[in-house]
Amino acid sequence: MPLKRHTYTYPTRIEYGPGAMKDFTSIVKESGLKKGLIVTDKGIEGIGLADELKGYFAEVGIETVIFSDVKSNPTEENVLEGTKVYKESGCDFIVGLGGGSPLDTGKTIKVMATHDGPLEKYDDMKGGDKYIINNMPPYYAIATTAGTGSEVGRSSVITVNNKKTIIFSPYMMPDIAVLDPNVTLKLPAKLTAATGVDAFVHSLEAYIMEVFHPMADGIAKEAMEMCVNYLGTAVDNGSDVEARGNMLMASAMGAIAFQKGLGLNHAIAHAMGVIFDIHHGLANAVVMTEVMRYNMTKDSIREKYASLGAIFGVENDAEKVIEAADKWLESLGMKVSLSSIGVTEDKLQAIEDYAIGDPCFPLNPKVAEKGDVVKILKNIL
Ligand SMILES: [Fe+2]
Repeated sequence: MPLKRHTYTYPTRIEYGPGAMKDFTSIVKESGLKKGLIVTDKGIEGIGLADELKGYFAEVGIETVIFSDVKSNPTEENVLEGTKVYKESGCDFIVGLGGGSPLDTGKTIKVMATHDGPLEKYDDMKGGDKYIINNMPPYYAIATTAGTGSEVGRSSVITVNNKKTIIFSPYMMPDIAVLDPNVTLKLPAKLTAATGVDAFVHSLEAYIMEVFHPMADGIAKEAMEMCVNYLGTAVDNGSDVEARGNMLMASAMGAIAFQKGLGLNHAIAHAMGVIFDIHHGLANAVVMTEVMRYNMTKDSIREKYASLGAIFGVENDAEKVIEAADKWLESLGMKVSLSSIGVTEDKLQAIEDYAIGDPCFPLNPKVAEKGDVVKILKNIL
């Protein structure tokens, strides 16, 4: 491939390991910050994690306010309400505590703390990133699931006027990402499996993307191996700190790798999420190997899949890799038919139509044509 100019922005400070959530409050203290807004959701608040974090901040003399009105698909209202609490409470920094939804909401509150609304102005699809300037308060992100990797990402997805809107800016990258496996120990097995496969697919799709980014490729490959080696243990034994820690790291690595972009797998999963409200990780898992079979018909992708043989303990052969991936998904309880999760044949065309309009669709290294998505889905109905 001829050498071209590239700009790489590699991510951020990561505080990793058991106890990182407590320890990082001392780092915030050293920065001279006084009062924080903890952005989380009702589920996280309900299991006591937000109060635990509040307690750690109190130990180092920092006051915090908890804001937990964050929906699973966060809205502009959630962001504006959180921004209001931030301003009225006199906060000077923000901490996101959660999966993708609270972390994305926290990131966007950071923007709105110093920028004027409406949020639509910052829609990335309309070039809104140019309005986001670096005058924002510090933002820290604590991941409570190993999947989205939002803690090392520079964008958020917020529903604005009933439309999923991407807000993006390099300045939205959290100042510190906290990966503490103790925080994820209570995640139920099914959710552990679904979020973990999402992390794997991030790496898989980034890895096959035809963009010159060997750093991302190396990270993606290592992250896929970590998922294959540790996700099963994390699902079977949720309190295994080593497995949880490896999955948290693999999830962050996946998100770092997908700076290259995501493809058809995610375009279809997004459509299934919107039309059938299917969990994002589960949607990705269900279509994963069928999308691989489709992509494999392009020689360059076939070679990439073949190079994953060692990860699955098979020879470097794309078909054997896909077979092994199917077995892996089955062992995680993630290899199920579309109809068993509520997808009906009459909606396959609607899934395709939505997927074609998804920002990930045109990035897929094999260009899908009309009818291809329906064919893929029919094979696994
Ligand atoms: Fe994803």
